[in-house]
Amino acid sequence: MRLYVLVIALFTSLLQADLISPLPTDTKYDQKKALLGKKLFNDPRLSADDTISCASCHLLEDGGDDNIKFSFGINAQEGVINSPTVFNSRYNLSQFWDGRAQDLQAQASQPIHNPIEMGSNMDEVLSKLKKDPEYSVEFKSIYKDAITKENITDAIAEFEKALVTPNSKFDQYLRGDKTALNKEEKEGYKLFKENGCIACHNGINIGGNLYQKVGILKTYVDKKNTLGRYNVTKKEKDKYFFKVPTLRNIELTAPYLHDGSQKNLFDIVNFMTLYQIGMVPDKEEVKKIVSFLKTLTGETPKIMSINEK
Ligand code: HEC
Ligand code: HEC
Repeated sequence: MRLYVLVIALFTSLLQADLISPLPTDTKYDQKKALLGKKLFNDPRLSADDTISCASCHLLEDGGDDNIKFSFGINAQEGVINSPTVFNSRYNLSQFWDGRAQDLQAQASQPIHNPIEMGSNMDEVLSKLKKDPEYSVEFKSIYKDAITKENITDAIAEFEKALVTPNSKFDQYLRGDKTALNKEEKEGYKLFKENGCIACHNGINIGGNLYQKVGILKTYVDKKNTLGRYNVTKKEKDKYFFKVPTLRNIELTAPYLHDGSQKNLFDIVNFMTLYQIGMVPDKEEVKKIVSFLKTLTGETPKIMSINEK
């Protein structure tokens, strides 16, 4: 296993110039659909007792996750896995930690049906929303077949496509502004490459484009024995594999890991160094990498400040 990571690290070091690319500043999406999706995303009627919206667990003013270990759904039920950010999720190869939804539209109906999240179902949601004359008008103006289950999840997915956070300090650096990072942040980026973090966290989302084992060099099993990708494929080799998470806006989304076990950036960088790189963390190096990670915070998506009509 160690050799395997070393080979990836060596190979990627040859290519590293192109391994991470900046987010586009002019994300393409259909604004009318996205604004409808924004309304749906914030609408608690998507849950059984009208108390929980998508935004209850994905706070859009605060990193797109909920800053607690496990989220709470209807009737104060506690979840089993940490809520990831919805920002930049359009660039992930699949959705959820185990990748069980192939895209944003396929993802959107799952929390609605999940008994410990929204505890409802698409038929119930459809009949509630159909009673709202405002929605009827809006859906009709966008979709030929007006309000349907499919169009509800389509609009939500379109909104999420607009949730892109461009122009982080690091993206400005990648675009050629070498002053965008200070000395410590640049050293952190160098260590991020040299220590092999970039072997798994790369691409436009600095993650989100492959599945990897947690604890590849030092066994890690969480308290709930979460099996990850195995739950989808049922293949032994996929046990404890998770979608490598995006590192964009990472300073806003503590706690970390699928089990929310790592409280802050120092803890998670120590963890990654030990479990994924197989190295004893060096305090100074960890500090520099943390400084680098803080340069990955982008701008608030424009759609957040656009109001309907
Ligand atoms: C009760 C809390 C809760 C609610 C409500 C909720 N989510 Fe989530 N969301 C989560 C958790 C927890 C996960 C991770 C689940 C997993 O991977 O098994 C998640 C995962 C996601 C992901 C995948 C992100 C990624 O990188 O894999 C997206 C997208 C998402 N939710 C969007 C939504 C939308 C849209 C709604 C409303 C229809 C919604 N969520 C409602 C807690 C919630
Ligand atoms: C072999 C692949 C691999 C390498 C190398 C690796 N990571 Fe990770 N990283 C992962 C996986 C997989 C996860 C998610 C694991 C989980 O949730 O159980 C993760 C999670 C993280 C997270 C938490 C993200 C979140 O939203 O919870 C951070 C931060 C992170 N890694 C940073 C780093 C840094 C810094 C390095 C280098 C010191 C590094 N990683 C090296 C695969 C890797």
